[in-house]
Amino acid sequence: MPWDQIKTRRFPAFDKDLDGISRQTMEDHYKLYEGYVKKTNECRKILDEFDYSEVEGNQVYSQLRAVSVDYTFALLGYKNHDLYFGHLGGDGGEPHGRFAELVDSEFHGGVEEWSASIRKAASAARGWVMVGYDLNDGSLFNYIMDTQNLWAVYNMVPVLALDVYEHAYVRDYGATPDGRKQYVEAFFRNLDWNHVNRQLAQAEAAKEGADRSGAREPAHAS
Ligand SMILES: [Fe+2]
Repeated sequence: MPWDQIKTRRFPAFDKDLDGISRQTMEDHYKLYEGYVKKTNECRKILDEFDYSEVEGNQVYSQLRAVSVDYTFALLGYKNHDLYFGHLGGDGGEPHGRFAELVDSEFHGGVEEWSASIRKAASAARGWVMVGYDLNDGSLFNYIMDTQNLWAVYNMVPVLALDVYEHAYVRDYGATPDGRKQYVEAFFRNLDWNHVNRQLAQAEAAKEGADRSGAREPAHAS
């Protein structure tokens, strides 16, 4: 298992003036990200140092259980923000490239309807909306996540991460539903669709690799 310490990264978005997301919001947000990295490493260290022949395994409460569960909160706090900060600092605009092509081909109403759908998802989520590419069937789905470790599914590769926790917008827009909507529009004005498309290209390449496993639908008896 890879028990190396993870490290924070600095992103190009921090060297720019974003349209509608203040530098102070970004800097404060970065401190949270640093906290997730610190706690991820702390959890890993504890999990690495357990004597597993002695440590208690208890489903009501045990240190093993607590650290294992909270590790996923810390690690996904790191991963989600890595994508979030990574794809800010762009020119926004309409989805284009492969992402738009895929959405147009599979989502009823195409890109226009999808654009409405993710805005509604952003109002319905308590923490994140994650647009994920499914390695099993190649579909894209807007996952509504109340925290960073709920409720994404296996074999989903995130390609777009929209943070809707209040810390992402309260300073700039206030903690109201309308404030959140204004922030979501600002997010899309600063989104780098090329970054989204790079994520998607990696995911499609991974699916192609997985498809070579040889598993296929059974032949139907005639
Ligand atoms: Fe956040």
